[in-house]
Amino acid sequence: MSRLQLGVVGAGAWGRNHVRTAAGLADAELAAVCDTSEPTRQRLARQYPAALVTADLNELLGKVDAVIIAAPAGTHADLARRCIEAGKPCLVEKPFALTTRDAEAVAKAAATRKVPVLPGHLLLFHPAVEQLRALVAGGQLGQLFYLYGLRLNLGQVRQDENALWSFGPHDVSVALFLLDETPVRVAAQGHCYLQPKVEDVVFLTMEFQSGVLAHVQLSWLDPHKVRKLTVVGSKKMVVFDDMEPREKLRIYDKGVERPPEYASYGEALTVREGDIFIPKIASVEPLAAELGHFVRVARGAEAPRIGPADGVRVVRVLEAASRSLAGGGAPVAM
Ligand SMILES: NC(=O)c1ccc[n+]([C@@H]2O[C@H](COP(=O)([O-])OP(=O)(O)OC[C@H]3O[C@@H](n4cnc5c(N)ncnc54)[C@H](O)[C@@H]3O)[C@@H](O)[C@H]2O)c1
Repeated sequence: MSRLQLGVVGAGAWGRNHVRTAAGLADAELAAVCDTSEPTRQRLARQYPAALVTADLNELLGKVDAVIIAAPAGTHADLARRCIEAGKPCLVEKPFALTTRDAEAVAKAAATRKVPVLPGHLLLFHPAVEQLRALVAGGQLGQLFYLYGLRLNLGQVRQDENALWSFGPHDVSVALFLLDETPVRVAAQGHCYLQPKVEDVVFLTMEFQSGVLAHVQLSWLDPHKVRKLTVVGSKKMVVFDDMEPREKLRIYDKGVERPPEYASYGEALTVREGDIFIPKIASVEPLAAELGHFVRVARGAEAPRIGPADGVRVVRVLEAASRSLAGGGAPVAM
């Protein structure tokens, strides 16, 4: 079978990782890269002499079978629509779009033209997140109580996205994936410390019909680099720490129990301190897993694990959170 011809649109700080990964895939070939920056194109032409390097999307579309869109967030919806129009499957980096309306328009175009479109929800391809999801779905944690995520570091300070739109898609997509439901209410508070109208720090809370509460702290103005998610269930608690090189998942056999005979007495609650289990996590680079899946989907060899509807759901949460942010943190019903 001939190798799938892949194109990457936008090869900046993140897109260059797509370019590198696409160039290393066994069943695909980096056929073209499109970037509007001349110095970036010069660098790419030197590094990937076999690929077409262009500033013209149409030229790229004429050369490839499928497209990865990693240009700035504001361009995603329009670029995705142009790829769909050309009948090319596309992987759209997060955020899928900047408004629910745009996200829905992309989803509609994809459905009408029957073109596979994947939102770039990278963490769903993280083996630790997949394992965490299996634990939740399999009931090993018991009844899910709440979860909280921390996504903090110093920089990269962006001008075209605030911390909510830059980091939020990761944690929101993971929360929706783990819980398999969308929030009924969201609230977000944040502040612009470095530039006007761009929140550097955002605290987002999501409430779910099931009673689960999810909170995420997002910041590029923090002394620590933290990528952590804690999930608390009635039987077990799990911490996913992506900064840990190997032991990324810790399952705590801890909880608070109420003997049946004391069902109504708070004093009878007993703390259970059990073992800590560290499962072996496959060492798979999430980006390689994401692109490998995208290539198989584009070939028609695999059903998409996620689709435009997932992109729309996440954008809808972020949009509601933005409204809450603008309203000083007042909860917004979804
Ligand atoms: N999945 C992840 O973990 C992850 C991580 C970082 C960034 N991202 C996302 O990737 C996207 C790109 O982020 P970045 O940090 O690389 O930004 P960046 O500004 O460093 O790079 C964007 C690149 O796109 C080019 N560009 C701009 N408009 C274009 C257009 N219309 N057509 C073609 N090229 C165009 C620019 O010249 C630049 O080279 C953003 O949406 C960002 O949120 C995802």
